[in-house]
Amino acid sequence: MTNFLQKYGWSSNPFTLVINPKHFTGYEDQIKALKDHIENRHKIAILLGPTGSGKTMTLRWLEDNLRENVLYISKPPKSAEQFIDIFIDLLPLTFWQKIFNKRPSLYTLPKYINTKLKGNQLIFLLDEAHETSKDVLEWLRVLVDQIDNVSLIMAGMPMLEQKLKTDLETLDQRVTTRIRLTNLNQAETFDLIMKRIASVGGEGIKPFTEAAIEKIYHKTGGFPRQILKECDKLISLGKDIIDASDIDEFREFSQPNVRLDQPIVSFSPKPPSEDQLNSLPYKQRKILEILSKRDWLSPSAIAQELDMSKYGSRGHAVRSVNNILRRLMLEGYVLREAKGKAFVYTLTPKIKTYFVEQ
Ligand SMILES: Nc1ncnc2c1ncn2[C@@H]1O[C@H](COP(=O)(O)OP(=O)(O)OP(=O)(O)O)[C@@H](O)[C@H]1O
Ligand SMILES: [Mg+2]
Repeated sequence: MTNFLQKYGWSSNPFTLVINPKHFTGYEDQIKALKDHIENRHKIAILLGPTGSGKTMTLRWLEDNLRENVLYISKPPKSAEQFIDIFIDLLPLTFWQKIFNKRPSLYTLPKYINTKLKGNQLIFLLDEAHETSKDVLEWLRVLVDQIDNVSLIMAGMPMLEQKLKTDLETLDQRVTTRIRLTNLNQAETFDLIMKRIASVGGEGIKPFTEAAIEKIYHKTGGFPRQILKECDKLISLGKDIIDASDIDEFREFSQPNVRLDQPIVSFSPKPPSEDQLNSLPYKQRKILEILSKRDWLSPSAIAQELDMSKYGSRGHAVRSVNNILRRLMLEGYVLREAKGKAFVYTLTPKIKTYFVEQ
């Protein structure tokens, strides 16, 4: 046993980089936003943060604390075909499906999953999402569109946001919740250290003094992985008491690039309420009704179903529908996707649920 473990009465080193959701602390706004996203059955959220800010920890915390079907994958598959094995692991084939070799293909996978889920919600957590190839992103979009009640949370380095915009704009448009992990505050830094020490049978914050933890907080900027590394270095000195004077000022950690000008949590677009839907002007409401019956329609297909006598010409009607659709998209009622030179539209999942209920 290492010297300092005996000295502090610990069963093992509490400051390893192991990820145990029981040690989770802080990030309350972010957890609330993730839970809201899931409860409201939104489709895609992205969780962004620099290395060591706690993305994996947050996903693992969700995995442990949600009651729904949760699928956590630690990194994106290299090829989309691997989704088949991943989902069969979670939702296994029945005996007969195995006997008759009824393994789904990538194309029949959404149907397979929907049948197995029987209407239950699926929470799909994808870590290291910034490493997803374009092809896999495209299949991810298909899965998210076609699996009923799936909420996908993609965690990755801040570059993920730009990657989605450039690689697959149609997927980016489906992102309703953006969450940023920044750093813990001083009280949470305290809590993290205490939880870690308690987990190995230690007492309070011993051997650290309060002043030492305050200094650790300032030195590390409250970044979880850096807090752990600093503590690990300090305990290896084996001192009876670790005080602020034992901690040098020198920042050997390069400060991750956290953009504090951006909100920690943002929704884009904000999902409208049912009241807002019901108080829309007649024409907008009518267009949504048409879309509630069929997905992915072009403005001209929609114009055809409207009463054309109210517009001067057909071209005029299509232009008017086009403008309304663009506004509805910005307000979170519809999603759009490029198809050839035109756009096709569908209701956002939230708005769809309102029409089902009516
Ligand atoms: N909220 C938290 N509460 C307590 N400990 C945390 C928290 N967030 C992270 N940690 C700890 O900090 C370390 C780094 O966290 P984690 O591995 O989740 O970061 P990450 O953002 O996934 O980094 P990377 O981008 O390198 O994968 C882990 O050992 C984890 O236990
Ligand atoms: Mg990670």
